[in-house]
Amino acid sequence: MKFFLDTANLAQIKEANELGILDGVTTNPSLMAKEGVKGQAAVMNHYKTICEMVNGDISAEVISTDFNGIIEEGKKLAAIHKNIVVKVPMIKDGVKAMKWFTDHGIRTNCTLVFSAGQAILCAKAGAAYVSPFIGRIDDSGWDGVLLVEQIVKIYKAQGFKTQILAASIRNPNHIIRCAEAGAHVCTSPLESILGLLKHPLTDIGLAKFLEDAKKTA
Ligand code: G3P
Repeated sequence: MKFFLDTANLAQIKEANELGILDGVTTNPSLMAKEGVKGQAAVMNHYKTICEMVNGDISAEVISTDFNGIIEEGKKLAAIHKNIVVKVPMIKDGVKAMKWFTDHGIRTNCTLVFSAGQAILCAKAGAAYVSPFIGRIDDSGWDGVLLVEQIVKIYKAQGFKTQILAASIRNPNHIIRCAEAGAHVCTSPLESILGLLKHPLTDIGLAKFLEDAKKTA
C-alpha cells in the first residue's frame, strides 16, 4: 500500500519525505485554505512546489462543477507537472469530465466518494484513483473501512484498474485496517502516519537496552 500525505503544508510534506516512506500527496481546497494559499497563481505555484519536493503523484483539485469548467481547469492543473493527478468531484459533470480526461491522457482522482455505486462510476470513467472518505463515513455512524472492503471486492470481481485511495483518514488504526482491506493507497495526515510508530513496549524496551548498554561501555 502506498502512503500519500493529505496536506498542503510544506513542512509536513518535507518531514514525511525525509522519513523515506512518502509516495505522493493529496490536497483539497480546504487544505489549501488552511495554509493561507490565496489566488489562482499562488495555488498553481504551491502545487508546483509540492511536485518539486515529492517524487510521486500529487492530486490537485478542480473547483469548477460544470463540464467545460472542469476540463479547462483540469488541463491547466495537469500542465503544471507530469505527476499532477486532477482531482474531480463525484458529480454528473465530474464523471463526464473524468472520461474526457481519460481519453485525453490526463489522470484523475475521483473525490467525495461515499458509496460502492459511486466507485463503480469512477472505474467506468477510467479514473486513476477513487477516493472513499473513511473518516467522514465514520462520523455519520457507519464504518468507512467496510466501504473500502466492498470496493476492493467489486474491483477485483470486475477487473477494474482504478486504484483505491483511502481518504479522510483520522487515525493509525484506519491506516492498518485499510492495508488489511487491500487499499492500494492510503492518504493520511502526518499525525496518523507517525502514530503507527508508537508502542509503549518499544519505549520501555529501548530504555532498558540503553540502560543495560551502560554496563557494557
Ligand atoms: O482530501 C480528502 C480527504 O482526505 C479529507 O479528509 O479529514 O477532511 O474528512 P477529512
